[in-house]
Amino acid sequence: MRSRGQHIELGDVTPHNIKQLKRLNQVVFPVSYNDKFYKDVLEVGELAKLAYYNDIVVGAVCCRVDQTEDSRRLYIMTLGCLAPYRRLRIGTVMLNHVLKICEEDGNFDNVFLHVQINNEGAIRFYQKFGFEIIETKKHYYKRIEPADAHVLQKTFGRGITIERPINNQEQQEDMS
Ligand SMILES: CC(C)(COP(=O)(O)OP(=O)(O)OC[C@H]1O[C@@H](n2cnc3c(N)ncnc32)[C@H](O)[C@@H]1OP(=O)(O)O)[C@@H](O)C(=O)NCCC(=O)NCCS
Repeated sequence: MRSRGQHIELGDVTPHNIKQLKRLNQVVFPVSYNDKFYKDVLEVGELAKLAYYNDIVVGAVCCRVDQTEDSRRLYIMTLGCLAPYRRLRIGTVMLNHVLKICEEDGNFDNVFLHVQINNEGAIRFYQKFGFEIIETKKHYYKRIEPADAHVLQKTFGRGITIERPINNQEQQEDMS
Protein backbone atom coordinates (compact mmCIF):
# COMPACT_ATOMS: atom_id res chain seq x y z
CA MET A 1 0.00 0.00 0.00
CA ARG A 2 1.47 3.38 -0.99
CA SER A 3 0.05 6.75 -0.07
CA ARG A 4 1.51 10.17 0.63
CA GLY A 5 5.06 8.82 0.17
CA GLN A 6 4.47 6.05 2.71
CA HIS A 7 5.08 2.49 1.69
CA ILE A 8 3.62 -0.33 3.79
CA GLU A 9 4.24 -3.94 2.87
CA LEU A 10 4.17 -7.35 4.50
CA GLY A 11 6.98 -9.89 4.39
CA ASP A 12 7.50 -13.49 5.45
CA VAL A 13 8.89 -14.51 8.81
CA THR A 14 11.99 -16.63 8.25
CA PRO A 15 14.85 -18.00 10.38
CA HIS A 16 16.84 -14.96 9.16
CA ASN A 17 14.49 -12.36 10.60
CA ILE A 18 12.78 -14.17 13.48
CA LYS A 19 14.93 -12.21 15.96
CA GLN A 20 13.37 -9.01 14.63
CA LEU A 21 9.93 -10.47 15.33
CA LYS A 22 10.99 -11.40 18.89
CA ARG A 23 12.40 -7.95 19.53
CA LEU A 24 9.29 -6.28 18.16
CA ASN A 25 6.93 -8.41 20.25
CA GLN A 26 9.03 -7.70 23.37
CA VAL A 27 8.59 -3.97 22.82
CA VAL A 28 4.94 -3.98 21.75
CA PHE A 29 3.33 -6.52 24.11
CA PRO A 30 3.35 -6.70 27.92
CA VAL A 31 3.33 -10.51 27.68
CA SER A 32 6.41 -12.48 26.64
CA TYR A 33 6.23 -15.41 24.28
CA ASN A 34 8.25 -18.59 24.65
CA ASP A 35 10.50 -20.46 22.24
CA LYS A 36 7.65 -22.74 21.16
CA PHE A 37 5.67 -19.70 20.03
CA TYR A 38 8.51 -18.67 17.69
CA LYS A 39 9.17 -22.23 16.54
CA ASP A 40 5.50 -22.58 15.60
CA VAL A 41 5.43 -19.17 13.90
CA LEU A 42 8.07 -20.40 11.45
CA GLU A 43 5.69 -23.16 10.37
CA VAL A 44 2.48 -21.20 9.77
CA GLY A 45 3.31 -19.62 6.41
CA GLU A 46 1.05 -16.70 5.56
CA LEU A 47 -0.40 -16.64 9.09
CA ALA A 48 2.71 -14.83 10.34
CA LYS A 49 3.97 -11.66 8.69
CA LEU A 50 6.29 -8.77 9.40
CA ALA A 51 5.08 -5.29 8.45
CA TYR A 52 7.54 -2.91 6.81
CA TYR A 53 7.13 0.84 6.72
CA ASN A 54 9.46 2.31 4.12
CA ASP A 55 11.54 -0.90 4.40
CA ILE A 56 11.83 -0.82 8.21
CA VAL A 57 10.23 -3.55 10.33
CA VAL A 58 7.63 -1.79 12.48
CA GLY A 59 4.91 -4.37 13.01
CA ALA A 60 4.00 -8.03 12.98
CA VAL A 61 1.04 -10.36 13.04
CA CYS A 62 1.05 -14.00 14.18
CA CYS A 63 -1.97 -16.29 13.99
CA ARG A 64 -2.77 -19.96 14.32
CA VAL A 65 -5.64 -22.19 13.33
CA ASP A 66 -7.77 -23.30 16.28
CA GLN A 67 -9.55 -26.46 15.22
CA THR A 68 -11.87 -28.58 17.33
CA GLU A 69 -14.54 -31.13 16.46
CA ASP A 70 -17.14 -28.37 16.47
CA SER A 71 -15.41 -25.42 14.92
CA ARG A 72 -12.56 -24.09 12.87
CA ARG A 73 -11.40 -20.67 14.00
CA LEU A 74 -8.48 -18.40 13.28
CA TYR A 75 -6.78 -17.10 16.42
CA ILE A 76 -4.79 -13.87 16.28
CA MET A 77 -2.02 -14.46 18.84
CA THR A 78 -0.31 -11.12 18.29
CA LEU A 79 -0.93 -8.17 16.01
CA GLY A 80 0.92 -5.00 16.81
CA CYS A 81 3.03 -2.17 15.63
CA LEU A 82 5.63 0.08 17.26
CA ALA A 83 4.08 3.04 19.04
CA PRO A 84 5.62 5.80 16.84
CA TYR A 85 4.15 4.13 13.74
CA ARG A 86 0.57 3.78 14.95
CA ARG A 87 -2.45 5.35 13.20
CA LEU A 88 -0.69 5.00 9.83
CA ARG A 89 -2.85 2.06 8.68
CA ILE A 90 -0.16 -0.54 9.36
CA GLY A 91 -2.55 -2.43 11.66
CA THR A 92 -5.20 -2.20 8.95
CA VAL A 93 -2.86 -3.75 6.37
CA MET A 94 -2.04 -6.63 8.75
CA LEU A 95 -5.67 -7.26 9.74
CA ASN A 96 -6.85 -7.12 6.13
CA HIS A 97 -4.21 -9.72 5.31
CA VAL A 98 -5.67 -12.00 8.01
CA LEU A 99 -9.25 -11.39 6.84
CA LYS A 100 -8.23 -12.11 3.25
CA ILE A 101 -6.80 -15.48 4.31
CA CYS A 102 -10.13 -16.28 5.99
CA GLU A 103 -12.02 -15.18 2.89
CA GLU A 104 -9.88 -17.24 0.52
CA ASP A 105 -10.02 -20.28 2.80
CA GLY A 106 -13.80 -20.00 3.16
CA ASN A 107 -13.97 -22.56 5.98
CA PHE A 108 -13.38 -20.51 9.11
CA ASP A 109 -16.32 -19.98 11.44
CA ASN A 110 -14.76 -16.92 12.96
CA VAL A 111 -11.57 -15.07 13.81
CA PHE A 112 -10.85 -14.14 17.43
CA LEU A 113 -8.30 -12.80 19.86
CA HIS A 114 -7.80 -11.79 23.47
CA VAL A 115 -7.20 -8.22 24.48
CA GLN A 116 -6.48 -6.74 27.92
CA ILE A 117 -9.64 -4.96 29.10
CA ASN A 118 -7.91 -1.58 29.41
CA ASN A 119 -6.54 -1.65 25.84
CA GLU A 120 -9.16 0.75 24.50
CA GLY A 121 -7.23 1.62 21.34
CA ALA A 122 -7.01 -2.01 20.23
CA ILE A 123 -10.68 -2.61 21.10
CA ARG A 124 -11.70 0.40 18.97
CA PHE A 125 -9.42 -0.80 16.16
CA TYR A 126 -10.98 -4.28 16.05
CA GLN A 127 -14.52 -2.95 16.43
CA LYS A 128 -13.94 -0.88 13.29
CA PHE A 129 -13.52 -4.16 11.45
CA GLY A 130 -16.69 -5.73 12.81
CA PHE A 131 -15.23 -7.57 15.82
CA GLU A 132 -17.43 -7.77 18.91
CA ILE A 133 -16.68 -8.47 22.56
CA ILE A 134 -18.25 -11.89 23.09
CA GLU A 135 -16.83 -12.71 26.52
CA THR A 136 -14.67 -11.31 29.30
CA LYS A 137 -12.28 -13.75 30.97
CA LYS A 138 -11.32 -13.03 34.57
CA HIS A 139 -7.65 -13.54 35.52
CA TYR A 140 -6.70 -14.47 31.97
CA TYR A 141 -3.22 -12.96 32.30
CA LYS A 142 -0.90 -14.26 35.00
CA ARG A 143 1.66 -11.48 35.32
CA ILE A 144 0.04 -8.24 34.19
CA GLU A 145 -2.62 -5.90 35.53
CA PRO A 146 -5.46 -5.69 34.79
CA ALA A 147 -5.48 -9.47 34.47
CA ASP A 148 -8.85 -9.68 32.71
CA ALA A 149 -9.21 -10.10 28.95
CA HIS A 150 -11.98 -9.49 26.49
CA VAL A 151 -12.48 -12.03 23.73
CA LEU A 152 -13.07 -10.15 20.49
CA GLN A 153 -14.57 -12.11 17.64
CA LYS A 154 -15.66 -11.55 14.07
CA THR A 155 -18.04 -14.20 12.80
CA PHE A 156 -18.26 -15.23 9.19
CA GLY A 157 -21.74 -15.91 7.97
CA ARG A 158 -22.95 -15.03 4.53
CA GLY A 159 -19.54 -14.54 2.95
CA ILE A 160 -16.71 -12.48 4.32
CA THR A 161 -16.26 -8.89 3.38
CA ILE A 162 -12.91 -7.19 3.80
CA GLU A 163 -13.75 -3.93 5.46
CA ARG A 164 -11.85 -0.72 5.70
CA PRO A 165 -12.23 1.34 8.85
CA ILE A 166 -15.19 3.67 8.48
CA ASN A 167 -14.16 7.29 8.77
CA ASN A 168 -16.48 10.03 9.93
CA GLN A 169 -17.17 11.27 6.42
CA GLU A 170 -18.25 7.82 5.26
CA GLN A 171 -20.39 7.44 8.38
CA GLN A 172 -22.12 10.73 7.63
CA GLU A 173 -22.64 9.73 4.02
CA ASP A 174 -24.17 6.43 5.17
CA MET A 175 -26.59 8.26 7.42
CA SER A 176 -27.72 10.76 4.79
C1 LIG B 1 -4.13 -1.95 17.85
C2 LIG B 1 -3.02 -1.56 16.84
C3 LIG B 1 -2.49 -2.81 16.20
C4 LIG B 1 -3.64 -0.66 15.76
O1 LIG B 1 -2.66 -0.46 14.75
P1 LIG B 1 -2.55 0.90 13.92
O2 LIG B 1 -1.58 0.67 12.82
O3 LIG B 1 -2.29 2.03 14.81
O4 LIG B 1 -4.04 0.99 13.35
P2 LIG B 1 -4.55 1.76 12.04
O5 LIG B 1 -3.72 2.96 11.78
O6 LIG B 1 -4.65 0.76 10.94
O7 LIG B 1 -6.01 2.18 12.55
C5 LIG B 1 -7.19 1.95 11.80
C6 LIG B 1 -8.35 2.54 12.55
O8 LIG B 1 -8.55 1.84 13.79
C7 LIG B 1 -8.98 2.78 14.79
N1 LIG B 1 -7.94 2.90 15.82
C8 LIG B 1 -6.67 2.46 15.77
N2 LIG B 1 -6.02 2.77 16.91
C9 LIG B 1 -6.91 3.43 17.68
C10 LIG B 1 -6.83 4.03 18.97
N3 LIG B 1 -5.69 4.01 19.70
N4 LIG B 1 -7.93 4.64 19.47
C11 LIG B 1 -9.08 4.68 18.77
N5 LIG B 1 -9.21 4.14 17.53
C12 LIG B 1 -8.14 3.51 17.00
C13 LIG B 1 -9.14 4.12 14.08
O9 LIG B 1 -10.45 4.19 13.60
C14 LIG B 1 -8.16 3.98 12.94
O10 LIG B 1 -8.47 4.82 11.84
P3 LIG B 1 -8.04 6.40 11.89
O11 LIG B 1 -6.59 6.45 12.31
O12 LIG B 1 -8.29 6.85 10.50
O13 LIG B 1 -8.94 7.03 12.92
C15 LIG B 1 -1.89 -0.75 17.55
O14 LIG B 1 -2.46 0.25 18.37
C16 LIG B 1 -0.98 -1.59 18.40
O15 LIG B 1 0.00 -2.15 17.92
N6 LIG B 1 -1.28 -1.72 19.71
C17 LIG B 1 -0.44 -2.49 20.63
C18 LIG B 1 -0.58 -3.98 20.39
C19 LIG B 1 -1.98 -4.45 20.68
O16 LIG B 1 -2.59 -4.07 21.67
N7 LIG B 1 -2.53 -5.34 19.81
C20 LIG B 1 -3.87 -5.84 19.98
C21 LIG B 1 -3.92 -7.17 20.60
S1 LIG B 1 -3.37 -8.43 19.48
